[in-house]
Amino acid sequence: MTTDLLQFPDGFLWGAATASYQIEGAWDEDGKGQSIWDRFSHTPGRVLGGDTGDVACDHYHRWREDIQLMAQLGLKAYRFSISWPRVLPEGKTKVNPAGLDFYSRLVDGLLAESIQPIVTLYHWDLPQALQEEGGWANRDSVHWFQEYADVVSRRLGDRVRGWITHNEPWVITFLGHYTGGHAPGIQDLPTAIQVSHHLLLSHGRAVPILRENSAQDTQVGITLNLSPIHAATESEPDQAAARRQDGYLNRWFLDPLFKGGYPEDMVEWYGESAPAVAADDMEAIGVPIDFLGVNYYTRGVVQADPEGGFLQASSVRPEGSEYTEMGWEIYPEGMYELLTRLDDEYGGPVMYVTENGGAFADELVDGTVEDPRRVTYLRDHFAAAWRAIEEEVALRGYFVWSLMDNFEWALGYSKRFGIVYVDYETQRRIPKRSALWYGEVIAHNGIEEQR
Ligand code: FCB
Repeated sequence: MTTDLLQFPDGFLWGAATASYQIEGAWDEDGKGQSIWDRFSHTPGRVLGGDTGDVACDHYHRWREDIQLMAQLGLKAYRFSISWPRVLPEGKTKVNPAGLDFYSRLVDGLLAESIQPIVTLYHWDLPQALQEEGGWANRDSVHWFQEYADVVSRRLGDRVRGWITHNEPWVITFLGHYTGGHAPGIQDLPTAIQVSHHLLLSHGRAVPILRENSAQDTQVGITLNLSPIHAATESEPDQAAARRQDGYLNRWFLDPLFKGGYPEDMVEWYGESAPAVAADDMEAIGVPIDFLGVNYYTRGVVQADPEGGFLQASSVRPEGSEYTEMGWEIYPEGMYELLTRLDDEYGGPVMYVTENGGAFADELVDGTVEDPRRVTYLRDHFAAAWRAIEEEVALRGYFVWSLMDNFEWALGYSKRFGIVYVDYETQRRIPKRSALWYGEVIAHNGIEEQR
């Protein structure tokens, strides 16, 4: 057996990611307004076990300690999100200075440790006050988001060199407004699809604002959750189902950003549910971005199924595969497939993997957490990304999901994605084996591959 070092390019940005509602807690402190996730998690039956983000990882109070943890691991960058209602409690007009101060201190604290802050503006915690006005289904949401982007970037733009407008518009669209499994819990297809359009438009309109308020070398992008979609068989109906699933999950968001319009086949498929689009909208959405953020966890394998909802497709669980605690198939090859496809079909954009990781049944034993499956998961996905880079794909960085265990949305605290274990009783942070291993990867800027 020989060991090779798969070396990543100089300056490759290794980091970890989190999101405000999942870690901050302090849900009603220092003038913060309610978000749709506060409302949702406080509604009985919405979140497993009745869990809420009221306290979460208490990061709002422990951020200094958390930055120290990141520094110990040697992270080059940290991706976090801003809680909109902490900054604008009613969603608009009235700024809460304490909210902005919190993020300003966080940014300074990161920079003091030479950790680059990468800031996501919207990771799902819309102010509840805006939901009362229709939320993302209301076209005014585009203006609300512009104002929010302006307020935040005026304050942080002198120091933040990486902005992400939205995290995973597909999830906001379909889990938030079609299945209803996420806040705000709406279940209506035309509403959902209209929401997707407003999200994309708000992205497009925010990009120039973020650029205007930031230094010249600042990069602005958006993060999508993407998966390669495979057909269960070679049959024509299954192939067509895979194409629809790909249109729904991937192309619906990629094509407007990079090709100037929604994919024709999907506009046709959605029929009367297709969104209302005003003149100039597509041009605004297609504003050039500096990078695409890619969240990759698993692939999809689908078959044609007349009972399979509006797509007439359903998922198949490939036999012989391994699965994470989320029930997601572990498929590292998909990272390579996805990155090379994006490079080929979307004009070779600069990309960052803004999330990748796995939930496993971690246990704290004698003060340590051995998580060999997470180490293997990450190593195999890093190796697949490395192969894409070898083929000239412009991947510039990689953010593990997540820095620490946290509130996994409708699944509450039941799933642990962290490379750092959180003991929720005491709020103690314990780096898992994977965190120590990741620290070595960063130190060597590469991974060892055994052959
Ligand atoms: C992504 C979300 C992130 C986290 C991971 C597991 O969809 O962006 O907040 O929940 O999944």
